[in-house]
Amino acid sequence: MTGPEGKAEKPRLTGMLGRTIRHNLARLRSWLNVKYYRFMGIKIGKGVFVSRHAHIDVRRGKISIGNDVHIGGGSYVLSHAGFRPTKEGEETVIEDHVRIFVNCVIFPGIRIGKNSIVGAGAVVMKDVPSNVVVLGNPARVIQNLEENP
Ligand SMILES: CC(C)(COP(=O)(O)OP(=O)(O)OC[C@H]1O[C@@H](n2cnc3c(N)ncnc32)[C@H](O)[C@@H]1OP(=O)(O)O)[C@@H](O)C(=O)NCCC(=O)NCCS
Repeated sequence: MTGPEGKAEKPRLTGMLGRTIRHNLARLRSWLNVKYYRFMGIKIGKGVFVSRHAHIDVRRGKISIGNDVHIGGGSYVLSHAGFRPTKEGEETVIEDHVRIFVNCVIFPGIRIGKNSIVGAGAVVMKDVPSNVVVLGNPARVIQNLEENP
């Protein structure tokens, strides 16, 4: 069978199999990432997905991640500023069911409330309430998910 450009189309079954393998490899990679970050002292709940190219700061400070959180590729969750000592009790907290899309930066000491979504490329420098979408640099609330689910 040929496609619109005259190239031979891959059989659908091969495509589906490829997707399933890629999906399961990503899950395996995330499972290993979560094990590694827990070993390094990060508190991480259940059902958390940490993409292959996501980074969680393990050098200094504290980070706590709730259940069913997804962290997309290229995103950084930071726990220390680098130019000043970590403040007493400072902790970066990502509550349950938060989605952090690709290439975000979560600053140290920030709390992201339950169910909130951090849009691709956002730089989060202030606490994010629950049930909102934040976008941009610096990240701002652009939608309340309770009003517009
Ligand atoms: C959070 C997100 C899902 C919101 O999508 P959405 O609700 O469909 O938003 P829309 O596409 O309707 O855009 C609404 C407005 O926000 C802007 N916008 C959308 N995403 C943006 C982003 N990441 N940063 C800055 N502005 C953004 C749009 O330009 C649009 O502005 P306008 O009203 O002036 O035209 C989307 O921003 C996002 O981050 N997608 C990335 C998904 C991803 O990372 N996938 C890989 C998963 S691992």
